[in-house]
Amino acid sequence: MSFPAEGRSPADLLAALEQKKARDVPWAKGRVFAYIYDAGPEAMQLVKAANALFLTENGLDPTSFPSVLEMERDVIAAAIDLMNGGPGAKGSMTSGGTESILLSVKTARDHARAVRPEIQKPEVVLPETTHPAFFKACAYFDVKPVVVPVDPSTFCASPSAMEAAITPDTIMIVGSAPSYALGVIDPIRELGEIALKHKLLFHVDCCVGGMYLPFARRLGHEIPDFDLSVPGVTQLSLDFHKYGYAAKGASAILYKDGDLRKYQIFAWSGWIGYTIVNPTVQSSKSGGPIAACWAILHHLGMAGYLDLVRRTQAAAERLREGLADIPGIEVLGEPRMNMLSFASRTVDVFALAEDMKERGWYIQPQFGFSSCPPNIHLSVGAGNAPNVEAFLVDLREAVAARGAREPAADAVELPAPLLALFQDPPPDLFDKLASMIGTDGTTMPSRMDGINNLMNAIPPAVRDRLLVEYIHRLYAR
Ligand SMILES: Cc1ncc(COP(=O)(O)O)c(C=O)c1O
Repeated sequence: MSFPAEGRSPADLLAALEQKKARDVPWAKGRVFAYIYDAGPEAMQLVKAANALFLTENGLDPTSFPSVLEMERDVIAAAIDLMNGGPGAKGSMTSGGTESILLSVKTARDHARAVRPEIQKPEVVLPETTHPAFFKACAYFDVKPVVVPVDPSTFCASPSAMEAAITPDTIMIVGSAPSYALGVIDPIRELGEIALKHKLLFHVDCCVGGMYLPFARRLGHEIPDFDLSVPGVTQLSLDFHKYGYAAKGASAILYKDGDLRKYQIFAWSGWIGYTIVNPTVQSSKSGGPIAACWAILHHLGMAGYLDLVRRTQAAAERLREGLADIPGIEVLGEPRMNMLSFASRTVDVFALAEDMKERGWYIQPQFGFSSCPPNIHLSVGAGNAPNVEAFLVDLREAVAARGAREPAADAVELPAPLLALFQDPPPDLFDKLASMIGTDGTTMPSRMDGINNLMNAIPPAVRDRLLVEYIHRLYAR
């Protein structure tokens, strides 16, 4: 568009905005197993109203907006309570899991600069199932990620392999509770012992599990130790905008020893303007997500979250059972909460995802990596729970309809000329591949299985280059 010449009425614009949603995934029907965290109409309405009420207030300056400061303090205190942080813990509210993780890595780097100045090139040791946000943080803050293979049968971090990867330049180790891809929980207690032994910081990525695992545990489900009470854990990320059912833009980074937080805070008064003191990445920030988070925690409370977890855990267990019953389908690892993934030796899972899309379901394809085959991820939210039986019926039919005719996704072999292209990728690799697929590179075919199978077979570093090029073109200008 060019810059709008004339003003338009709010009614006209709101109608236009509503219309834009038409092509988005139809999450409100409970048939999308990713992206959306919906605790029902009353909770949703409250979150929207609270968000709107504080949309304009600016968290940039807590002295001008004590309302926002107060809510943020409350939310962090509640999170510390839930994560058993004890009296010395402190934290900050951030805009999401990625920001919490960015800050954790920056804190670790700046802490090392202060207390271990001999380290020239700091390293963070990560299981290969760690969320990409850590790799982003390492890239942003010039820290070396040292990637450690996971146990190929459980897909959980292997403590001995993690310990073997520690060097004199290691500043922090990482574990996930759970990691998003397969929903499996790393052995946090054992990793904590290693952190203590080597005097390292230890981040537990509880972004997706933080507002779920404590409730699942209270309900009697078998959940291994994961929180700030585990010896050796020094910091932990927890997202309210996932199973906390807050508005998007709400997460927390918590430190067991609150003094660590000082390495996170940035101040700059050496200019002509107003003084900057930012605890987080954002400077100007809407009070909306903070207010919405505060409101939903109070609205649902312990009883409300227990009820949501009771329902979603039952649905996820039924789903796991049902999947295990479908010939050719295999659930990966031992998922402990309402997230799981399945692979297949007989069916092309990427094609299956498209078949299910045609039946009105959205399930998330994931590329194979290291010991893990290509697979489909399912996050079972409260909105999905009533649809699990219908989903299983459709999936069983879709698997049967596909039969064993398609090659398994991990069996796809690339022709030799393509393999040569990936070994020494030319600058116009994206265009070459796009023309082979018959697209200009920004529009996608209605079925994505061809592209997903191709991408699955491409080495990750080359794949990342292609993805950057795709997004660069998609956003156009
Ligand atoms: C374990 C884990 N860590 C980090 C993130 C990143 O969170 P966000 O998308 O809020 O930045 C996610 C997102 O799903 C996650 O599951």
